[in-house]
Amino acid sequence: MYLGLDIGRQYVKMVTVEKSRDEYKVLDAGLRLVPELNATYDPEKIDHTHWVMAVKELLRQQGLNPKRVKSVISGINGSSSSIKQITTMEMPSDELQSAMTFEARKHIPMDGTDAVIDYQIFGSNSREIDKIDVGLVACTKGVINSHVSLLRECGLKPGIVDVNPIALSNAVTFVKDIPEDGLVVIVDIGAVTSSLVVYGQGQEFFTRDLPLGGYHFVKETAAKHEISYTDAQDLLFKEGLSCMIKTSADDGIDNVRIAERTVYDNLVEDIRRSLRFYAKQTGQSFFLKIFLTGGAAVTPGLADFISSKLNVDTAVFNPFENINGGADFSVTNPNQYTVALGLGIRGGMERE
Ligand SMILES: Nc1ncnc2c1ncn2[C@@H]1O[C@H](COP(=O)(O)OP(=O)(O)OP(=O)(O)O)[C@@H](O)[C@H]1O
Ligand SMILES: [Mg+2]
Repeated sequence: MYLGLDIGRQYVKMVTVEKSRDEYKVLDAGLRLVPELNATYDPEKIDHTHWVMAVKELLRQQGLNPKRVKSVISGINGSSSSIKQITTMEMPSDELQSAMTFEARKHIPMDGTDAVIDYQIFGSNSREIDKIDVGLVACTKGVINSHVSLLRECGLKPGIVDVNPIALSNAVTFVKDIPEDGLVVIVDIGAVTSSLVVYGQGQEFFTRDLPLGGYHFVKETAAKHEISYTDAQDLLFKEGLSCMIKTSADDGIDNVRIAERTVYDNLVEDIRRSLRFYAKQTGQSFFLKIFLTGGAAVTPGLADFISSKLNVDTAVFNPFENINGGADFSVTNPNQYTVALGLGIRGGMERE
């Protein structure tokens, strides 16, 4: 059994999966709020102890004894790591490991001594026959050490530490058939940041963290309506983007004024800029689809808004729709588990 554990800044999420032969089966999924109940959510105030408590409570809630969990796969945020796709000759894995360590120094602006390197083979290069595309991942020892000590404090034995953007692409690739031509975009809208990933078969992998998430959606709703964070959350979950648009009644004479720029416009602008950057760097701009994941993906009206502004088909992604066992349990917000599922799947992926 593999336990995929996504330690987010508002919720910790877990998905357990099992692999027999080549088939994955999802066993269970669950989540837990990170801050203590009834507290007003403030991401700035979350620290190590809150996460430890939340993970412990989550495991208890799902009936898992941390001591018995043999294989836990957890993830580091895109903003604390750096991921770069490179193309290299095909070679045995021990050689690849040292080649990657060498490559990392060239590609990733870090001091070298303080970097931890990992990689994942994406597949054969589409242009050069004997070459492969590799996702090279680096982060600092400080980030890894603090992550690993958090897991230990939860009573878990640390296992594979992956990075969330790669977990996202693993989950989407697992559930959806990725077309041979064109690019798929994933936007994981969490609480504090949104992780954008662009990839496709034989295409360059790209990721960037955008500084907006559900927390900002709620804050803006609260400010606009002059209500508390929790009331704003209720209103937002029910009405979504429409509660940001003034009705003509309270608009009065102001309705001729150009509509204010909302947090959603800013998010769209950030996505647009990232896609433009990708197109410039790679010469590829055939964006087929945007999948929204993360808790705030279901904000009513958001997928349609993004789709109409960017002119790319946009939909909320359900990681359990095409996996054995996915229909055997129910969760309210399946999209919120995409990273956790991707991490669980990673446990069953052997490195060639
Ligand atoms: N039904 C809903 N409608 C709209 N937004 C929702 C809904 N349920 C949860 N959210 C939002 O989802 C966000 C939490 O999502 P998620 O669990 O993906 O974040 P996280 O992983 O904890 O945060 P981060 O990725 O920034 O560390 C919150 O901001 C919350 O307001
Ligand atoms: Mg998250």
